[in-house]
Amino acid sequence: MTADIEPLKRTLSLARQEIAKVIIGQEQVIDSALIAIFTNHHALIEGVPGVAKTLLVRTLAHVLGCDFGRIQFTPDLMPADITGTHVFNLQKNSFALVKGPIFTTFLLADEINRAPAKTQSALLQAMQERVVTIDRHTHPLPGNFTVFATQNPIEHQGTYPLPEAQVDRFMLKISMSHPQRDEEIQLAGRMLGDSAPEAVLKSGAVQAVIGPETLAEMRQQLAGIRVQAELIAYLVDIVRRTRRHQGVLVGAGPRATQALLLSSRAAAALAGRDFVTPDDIKALAVPVLGHRIILRSEYEIEGLAVEEVIEQILQEVTVPR
Ligand SMILES: Nc1ncnc2c1ncn2[C@@H]1O[C@H](COP(=O)(O)OP(=O)(O)OP(=O)(O)O)[C@@H](O)[C@H]1O
Ligand SMILES: [Mg+2]
Repeated sequence: MTADIEPLKRTLSLARQEIAKVIIGQEQVIDSALIAIFTNHHALIEGVPGVAKTLLVRTLAHVLGCDFGRIQFTPDLMPADITGTHVFNLQKNSFALVKGPIFTTFLLADEINRAPAKTQSALLQAMQERVVTIDRHTHPLPGNFTVFATQNPIEHQGTYPLPEAQVDRFMLKISMSHPQRDEEIQLAGRMLGDSAPEAVLKSGAVQAVIGPETLAEMRQQLAGIRVQAELIAYLVDIVRRTRRHQGVLVGAGPRATQALLLSSRAAAALAGRDFVTPDDIKALAVPVLGHRIILRSEYEIEGLAVEEVIEQILQEVTVPR
């Protein structure tokens, strides 16, 4: 039986169309973000200042009809600053819960590596379990709770890099680079007129084409996308090979296998297909595996990059036909 993915295709192209009213270019970035959302996972976003990381997440929230929140992580940020706390109400003579900014649907966690470990873990528990514990009481988060976390890549001083166990919880890493020349010209032109990207988002010209219910339906439709047994073996071999590469100190774990499988299925849907191809898997290898692999320091000194290691692995593993 083949799945009817026509409704899914229509909704996806509608969403992309609305997002493109605000975000110029960055098609791959948008697709990666949609993959994380449609598989109900979380993403790391990496990019220098000013490449529209914040604007992207705000736009996604708007188009997908979900709440948006942002938390700036700082060295003095305490877990209760993000989760919330009970505050004594003098008039009522009792404690009342004041929920923190984590209670939203699409959360931009900016510069997550600036906060100390216990604050990072409060976020990571919420990501994993979609509940927040405050004073021993647990509170559920929305089913579509999705974290987009940025890391500050430039300054390492005064930052607390996420331990591997924590980066592993992010399905993929989205790298945002500077716009192309023609895109930057287009951006500059729009800044002069009344169609600056932020203004367009606020103007009401961008429609919310997907709501929380549609999102849940779309996830179910994704299940109809076929992955042949040979392709499952192919991606398992790719992940396992990361553990044996001579340049790798720590390879990708089983969460990577699951992430590669689910993300390639979503990528097939974005490409308008009801089946996964080897190219879907190859294209996601760096975004899904890159942040989970730690190279041996001697290899890093030789200037070997994670991307090159993954490229070598893709060359080595036999592609099923
Ligand atoms: N591809 C793009 N499409 C639309 N607007 C863009 C694009 N690239 C940059 N901009 C513009 O650049 C400005 C910065 O965007 P934004 O604040 O989202 O960046 P950021 O990546 O979050 O930066 P920071 O790292 O400093 O937080 C905005 O005014 C936005 O309109
Ligand atoms: Mg920002």
